[in-house]
This record gives sequence, C-alpha cells and structure tokens, in this order.
Amino acid sequence: MSVIISPSVLSCDFANVQRDVEMINNSEADWFHVDVMDGVFVPNISFGFPVIAAINKHAKKPLDVHIMIVNPDQFVEEFAKVGTAILTVHYEACTHLHRTIQLIKSHGMKAGVALNPHTNIELLEDVINELDLVLIMSVNPGFGGQKFIEGAIDKVRKLKALIERKNANVIIEVDGGVNLETGARLVEAGADALVAGSFVFNSSNPAQTIADLKAL
Ligand code: DX5
Ligand code: ZN
Repeated sequence: MSVIISPSVLSCDFANVQRDVEMINNSEADWFHVDVMDGVFVPNISFGFPVIAAINKHAKKPLDVHIMIVNPDQFVEEFAKVGTAILTVHYEACTHLHRTIQLIKSHGMKAGVALNPHTNIELLEDVINELDLVLIMSVNPGFGGQKFIEGAIDKVRKLKALIERKNANVIIEVDGGVNLETGARLVEAGADALVAGSFVFNSSNPAQTIADLKAL
C-alpha cells in the first residue's frame, strides 16, 4: 500500500487558505494535517475552531487534527463538531490517556497519540490495542520548518515491532522535517503516513511535491 500523505496547513498561506485547501483537494494528498497549538503545551499559538471549521468547509479529504494542548478532554466534542476525522492528542498532555482515547472514539473520531522526541515507544504497550494511529514527532512540536531528529527512524522500527507483537491495527505517522530524503528512510523503516509542511508549501510546485512524496 502506498504511503499516506498529510500536508500540514500550518505552512500554508493564511491569507489564501481556500486556495491552498483546493490545491490539496486536487493533489495526491490523502489527508489534511491540522496543527492546533495553545501556547502552553508548546511555545507557540496556531489557530482554533473557526479556522478548522473554515478549512473543513472546503476540504474534500479527512482532517487529521494534531492537538498540542493541555487538558485536551475539555475540547474533544468541539473538535468532532468542526469536522475532525482523526484526533491526535499528546501522550505528555494526558494524565488519563485511556479515558481520553475512549472519549475521542465516543464522538465518532479515530484516536491517535503523539509522542514527543523524548518519549519512549514502550510507554504505549498497555494502550496500543485501543489506538488507531500513533504520531511520532521527529521535531519538538511547536513550529514548522525544523530539522529532522534522526532518532525518529529507530522509533518507527520499534513501534512497528510493538504493533506486530501486540497484534494491533495502528497507523504509524511521522511529523516534522519530512522531505524526500527523510521520508524515504521513514517509509523503509515502516511509516504508513507522512506529515509535510514547509517542504510542500515552500516548494515551487506544492502539488508536484505531494506527488513526489506519495511515490516514496
Ligand atoms: C510541528 C507540527 C508539524 C509541522 C511540520 O509542531 O506538528 O505538523 O507543521 O512542519 P514541517 O514539515 O515543516 O517540519
Ligand atoms: Zn503536526
């Protein structure tokens, strides 16, 4: 099966969101990656519900929403309302992760968990069978355009082994510093889905760049 490509709208032109959403609609991308930052869990603020609802109005592909926020439970219902298909919370932000996962699923969304670069894969052992997706962060979350952290490759391999050992059905997604070179190595290691922000939107032909990633 070909790799799932999820362009990150964090790197789009916010004065031309509809144009960039249409570009993704008409490209080989599979999902829209939507990064929500609260200025507390991460040292940056991105955008909130009205912007996601506006994206969803035009998006013809599932919204893959990555929330870098504290206390995610209080907003789960609202994320469902604005059209989220997959909701990914941070392991480091959830005291009762199992409960949060059930809450996400109870609102009809797929449930994902993101791991910061310092968080060990083995911590997911007791919850992996409840998950639809694991997002391995290959940068410290908060900003687009950062340098890829090499350790992510080995984490993909370890996660793949854990998924096989536990006979789980989980998508492995990687986020941060993805380009054709890092993307190829991630796919080889076992990644099922790649997020790409600046590599897509800073290129001269974003739709072609998405197609190049899709061909990995
Ligand atoms: C970082 C975000 C990423 C970001 C990736 O906190 O979660 O999704 O948009 O951007 P690039 O692909 O430029 O590293
Ligand atoms: Zn992200």
